Amino acid sequence: MEKLIDAARLAQNNSLAPYSKYKVGAAVLTDDNTIISGCNVESSSFSLTCCAERTALFSAVSKGYDKFKALAVITKDGGTPCGACRQVIWDLCGDIPIYIADEDGNVDETTSKALLPKAFSDSSLK
Ligand code: THU
Repeated sequence: MEKLIDAARLAQNNSLAPYSKYKVGAAVLTDDNTIISGCNVESSSFSLTCCAERTALFSAVSKGYDKFKALAVITKDGGTPCGACRQVIWDLCGDIPIYIADEDGNVDETTSKALLPKAFSDSSLK
């Protein structure tokens, strides 16, 4: 868990957030214990911004990973994943532990199911 949060913290340093100034880092742990991280990347066309959690997950998928065991996210104040990211985390990871950290060393442990109860899922598309 500490290594995962450390990786999220390192990625947070790369956050490109010139508009909000809200720097976010995230990291996912794959089933073979590889850690892939990501940060938020903002666009001048605000809605094109990509959150740190989705940057990390999409990066992992693009590297060939498709099974994830945990995800960590860090912000200055322990902000929780947005709704869009909750859906993507559920779709790609199922029910996994989520560690939500702040810059003072506090960590809140929750799960993707707790963050998105009664989630829409691919089972509706079959
Ligand atoms: N942000 C994330 O990276 N993850 C979230 O789950 C919430 C929001 C980013 C998007 C934007 O760059 C900034 O935080 C402020 O909304």
